[in-house]
Amino acid sequence: MKKFFLSIVLLAIALPTVFAQQSYVPTAANLEQRENFRDAGFGIFLHWGIYSMFSQGEWYLNDANLDYKEYGQAAAGFYPSKFDAAAWVKAFKDAGAGYICITSRHHDGFSMFDTQYSDFSIMKASPFKRDILKELSDECHKQGLRFHVYYSLIDWTRDDYYPLGRTGRGVGRRTHGDYSTYFEFMKNQCAEIVTKYKADCVWFDGEWDQTQTNPNFNWRFPELYESIHALNDACLIANNHHHSPYEHEDIQCFERDVPGENQAGYSAGQEVSTKLPLETCQTMNTAWGYKISDKRYKPLSEIVQLIVRTAGRDANLLLNIGPTASGELPPMSLQRLQELGEWMNKYGETVKGGVRGGLIKPQTWGVTTQKGKTLYLHILDLAQDNLTITLPAGTKIKAINEYDSKAPVTFKQVVDGVFYLKLNEVPATKRVPDYIVEVTLK
Ligand code: GLC
Repeated sequence: MKKFFLSIVLLAIALPTVFAQQSYVPTAANLEQRENFRDAGFGIFLHWGIYSMFSQGEWYLNDANLDYKEYGQAAAGFYPSKFDAAAWVKAFKDAGAGYICITSRHHDGFSMFDTQYSDFSIMKASPFKRDILKELSDECHKQGLRFHVYYSLIDWTRDDYYPLGRTGRGVGRRTHGDYSTYFEFMKNQCAEIVTKYKADCVWFDGEWDQTQTNPNFNWRFPELYESIHALNDACLIANNHHHSPYEHEDIQCFERDVPGENQAGYSAGQEVSTKLPLETCQTMNTAWGYKISDKRYKPLSEIVQLIVRTAGRDANLLLNIGPTASGELPPMSLQRLQELGEWMNKYGETVKGGVRGGLIKPQTWGVTTQKGKTLYLHILDLAQDNLTITLPAGTKIKAINEYDSKAPVTFKQVVDGVFYLKLNEVPATKRVPDYIVEVTLK
């Protein structure tokens, strides 16, 4: 009896240690993937699903308070006959993208892949019966792009996504369920995404659904994340939860904001990580999923400046396109990709491929990026005709040249580390969208 009592006591002491969260130590393979991700620099985000048929953005089921069963019937008519994974991936690659991130299952619950765990999928509920995720994954791997997969934590059609969050309340879903079965479902689908589709990253979204209604809701992220890392330790985990990174996450996301700014209002609670790779996602027009009335495409100059501003903060840009129901990239987005490709061909090496944020922090005039001893000054807004740059004391400069022509730029050292650049002869046409000066350090 005494022995039994002792075992109970020992067990009670040991248990908390057994179940305590192990703090996450990324493996060497994971750290290498993070650097590969940083090198990729710029990616294309794709929001594509049966919502594209309604052409009202990816939240249409929620926004129009449709009955989810009736909405789901649209799947039977989803036949994107013009979908061509090879052509899409080529268009992204030609634009200078190093990766894509595609919605495998958005908040409406429709799976764009051949999943064993849901009948509401491209293979079982639509006549298309082509595994979209597989075709894109194969093509990305063939053409040398990284393959990231968006996965929603919210489901407006399943009863066991429970308790109800702040969204999807008017779609007729039953209001009871059991999160543990939903959790298993997500875990299983993520396993498919990681193994069958060889995802380089699983990109979660939707945590914010519970923050107001059930602030203490336990999503069981450590378990979910560990299950992914157990299958592939190099797979990167990102979560667009708008908070500072949680344990086990490998990338920090910023929605519609460059790190350190909070113009869109989603970044108030985010400290910019100094350890993790950073990524800003932004739309090419204004909606994520295809929206027929949304013609507000950002001009090329704005997209270029966004890429440069993120690169200068050591972050990647994930630029979104919403393909149509027929399986096409909207003509305006194709045009922007082509224009961007032309810019990238000339200037890509100053923003990606081993380039990191430069040793001068972002300034009112622009940002700097750097590769080894080459520092690029990206002058986005040259208010004065001359520029004073301050480098850490003791930094020696070998040469300063205009990036375009390689012509030397006249400069003068004012005091240790402070240099004065004469730019008054730079014509206005050369100053937009980005005037690049190459500083070679000694
Ligand atoms: C928001 C939207 C969602 C979109 C995501 C992309 O969280 O709710 O629809 O997928 O942003 O960042």
